Amino acid sequence: MKAQGRLAGRCWYTLALAVLAVGALSVAAVSRDDEHVSENDEQSDSVRLKTPTGKAESVPEGRRYLDASLSVDERVEDLLARMTLEEKLGQMTQIEVDSVNPGDVAHYGLGSVLSGGGGVPPDNNPEAWADMIDAFQEEALSIRLGIPLIYGVDAVHGHNNVVGATIFPHNIGLGAAGDAELVRDIGEATAIEMLATGASWNFAPVLAVPQDIRWGRTYEAYSDDTDIVTKLSVAFLEGLQSIERLPLVVGTPKHFVADGAVEWGTSEHPEGWRIDQGDTSIGEEELREVHLAPYKAAIDAGARTVMGSFSSWQGVKLHGRRDVLTGMLRDDLGFDGLLVSDWGAIDQIDPDYRTAVVTAVNAGIDMNMVPYDAQRWVGTLKAAVQDGDVPLERIDEAVRRILRVKFEMGLFEQPFAVRELLPEVGSKNHRALARRAAAASVVPLVGGDRLPLDRSVGRVLVAGEADDVGTAAGGWTITWQGRRGDITPGATILQGVEEAVSAETHVEVSRLGHTDESAEIGIVVVGEAPYAEGVGDVEVPALSEEDHGIIARARAHVDTLVVVVVSGRPLLLGTATDLADVVVAAWLPGSEAAGVADALFGVEELTGTLPMAWPDAIDQIGPGRAKPWLPRGHSG
Ligand code: GLC
Repeated sequence: MKAQGRLAGRCWYTLALAVLAVGALSVAAVSRDDEHVSENDEQSDSVRLKTPTGKAESVPEGRRYLDASLSVDERVEDLLARMTLEEKLGQMTQIEVDSVNPGDVAHYGLGSVLSGGGGVPPDNNPEAWADMIDAFQEEALSIRLGIPLIYGVDAVHGHNNVVGATIFPHNIGLGAAGDAELVRDIGEATAIEMLATGASWNFAPVLAVPQDIRWGRTYEAYSDDTDIVTKLSVAFLEGLQSIERLPLVVGTPKHFVADGAVEWGTSEHPEGWRIDQGDTSIGEEELREVHLAPYKAAIDAGARTVMGSFSSWQGVKLHGRRDVLTGMLRDDLGFDGLLVSDWGAIDQIDPDYRTAVVTAVNAGIDMNMVPYDAQRWVGTLKAAVQDGDVPLERIDEAVRRILRVKFEMGLFEQPFAVRELLPEVGSKNHRALARRAAAASVVPLVGGDRLPLDRSVGRVLVAGEADDVGTAAGGWTITWQGRRGDITPGATILQGVEEAVSAETHVEVSRLGHTDESAEIGIVVVGEAPYAEGVGDVEVPALSEEDHGIIARARAHVDTLVVVVVSGRPLLLGTATDLADVVVAAWLPGSEAAGVADALFGVEELTGTLPMAWPDAIDQIGPGRAKPWLPRGHSG
């Protein structure tokens, strides 16, 4: 489903909203659904947004901000003028789902709740998600002004916290595929699966341009090339924001800015991470050319929220830099949407919490992903405003931006899960798209001329992690870090092999590569176990000794040995390239990793190319690196 005549930038966005919002209200004469009438209804003169379709019966007298026929700015100003300081500060507050107690949404007037990685309902299924988020929404609508909250998730490779959702390849694999249309379609599918569950804010895409593959977040980026990052992140954002249903889903270019430029050994993270959330010493010209450029394109393409970066630039935490968060993002790039902090990132600015809060808000942070202690945040900021350390004008500016995005999204007209889309979550069509993407992301490093493999051989040996959905999905899957195992439905590489070969072909599975039989083909899947963020920081990204052992054992029994590397980044392969006839990079192919086998056996074309250089020695890694073994763009 594509937005007709896709217009770039905000004009498309506003146009789509106006059409949809008026449409929603024009069919508003629906019977009052008492179960959604709030207990305050008698005192309030406003109409509750009633059924899950969110159609308002009529615009109550005096509540102009509920009139969708008015301009967004008129609605913002009418609502802002009604708000108390506490209500304004509540809108600037985002709390993570496991820290929200019953009544908190109403008590603080929370502007947003998020699911961090693994923030899931007890029964992790799409309908339970819709029930969970709708319950928060009901509470938000039940208080005086009835401002809907916006629910945020990291749907960075599909709606990946939800069991049963389609898990697409991580961005590094999409960078290898290099297909903007494919990425746009993935954005659309992701938005549809989100809408079904009531989540309308996606903390994606990552716009990082990673300069050091030792960084644990390398795989969240499309490439180490600015132009590829720009092309694909804009495609994802346009796809994500193209679904013409209320509420409009919004993406979040992140992490602003130059998160991918962090330098090894500069992280001061308490968990001992070595590079993630660290510092970059690059000059302003390089920062603008390499790392800021994708944000200009994303903002011009209609980005309405941006997330700040944990990292520092020239020794100063970006969350406290007004020259960047306001100077570059607002003055230079003209961004007028909302800027949200990263997870507790404000706290890192200064050991004195009040100083940290004042610095961040005055620098330009509009909403704080606190994410735990609403009381401390709201109390500290309120005192700072009352003491004049944070001007009330700054609070009003932040709240205007938040309200503007909520009105643009149609959240006031349609705040609830779009439950008729629930069958789309993990649908056959979306899984087929993910499988195509997995195939398109495969890159032959060596021996590509030996592909495709013969589908009618007598025997194939499959070894390593070929039958593990969790491994293929990587981090940010069901839980924050992800994990090996049968964590969510999907089709593994092994299943793809079994489907590709003939009925007469015998497929032997031996995870460690032990066998007594010889086979024409051996497929050994090696690489990395799942990780996320700084947990994945590693000084020497390389195959493990266990990997090498499996490869050696398989080598002794097969004619053609194919090594498949499942990893979040290029890895030092050592002797694997001497032993293998073919080595391919499959990156993190997702729940439909069977697509990797489709590429190996010619069911799908082999079209992937390296999204970043692949080293074969440690001196080819990091800034100032030596000439790499295989350059970006390689396929062979
Ligand atoms: C994390 C990440 C950020 C994510 C946020 C919410 O720490 O840095 O990318 O969107 O917290 O999960």
